[in-house]
Amino acid sequence: MPILPKEGVVKELAPEPGDFRKAMGSFAAGVTVVTVCHEGRLVGTTVSAFSSVSLDPPLVMVCLKRDSRTLAALSQARTFCVNILSVEQGDLAHRFARSGADDRFALTAVEAGVCGAPVLAGCAAAVECELHAAHDGGDHEILVGRVLRVVVDEAKAPLVYVRGGFLNA
Ligand SMILES: Cc1cc2nc3c(=O)[nH]c(=O)nc-3n(C[C@H](O)[C@H](O)[C@H](O)COP(=O)(O)O)c2cc1C
Repeated sequence: MPILPKEGVVKELAPEPGDFRKAMGSFAAGVTVVTVCHEGRLVGTTVSAFSSVSLDPPLVMVCLKRDSRTLAALSQARTFCVNILSVEQGDLAHRFARSGADDRFALTAVEAGVCGAPVLAGCAAAVECELHAAHDGGDHEILVGRVLRVVVDEAKAPLVYVRGGFLNA
């Protein structure tokens, strides 16, 4: 017999925001920097909300806050690269998450990928995409990318983020 929620109860229930964050933070995630080249300008930010979606066609998704400058650039450029960080790139993850006017790309070697989005040097992998679809995700936007090319460096161990910190970084 299926277990159904009690009538009328579920709608009223909502976790405390702090508890919700703690629960979600218990799910270990990789760390990426989503990069875009828009009107000749390099833009990018740190994103852990990244997942594969489909193998055929190859689709991935990232979630970006609605006020993200990277989201604004990505929506215009319609191509992006998901750079999957290696364990040595914890500082880079922090740099690309800081708000303010500092040049996030200043200390990092980049090359232009097949779709023009910057591919960062030293990553465990990179996934180059064109925008396939965008969906409402509450205070975030869910961006689905169709994968055009991947680069993998198996010698680099991926960076892992869990409970507010990086593992082995
Ligand atoms: C480990 C880590 C993971 C993050 N994951 C996300 C994410 O999945 N989505 C998001 O919108 N912001 C995420 N952020 C926060 C953004 O990097 C941060 O708000 C940044 O300043 C946004 O920059 P932008 O407005 O230039 O795009 C994360 C930050 C850190 C340190």
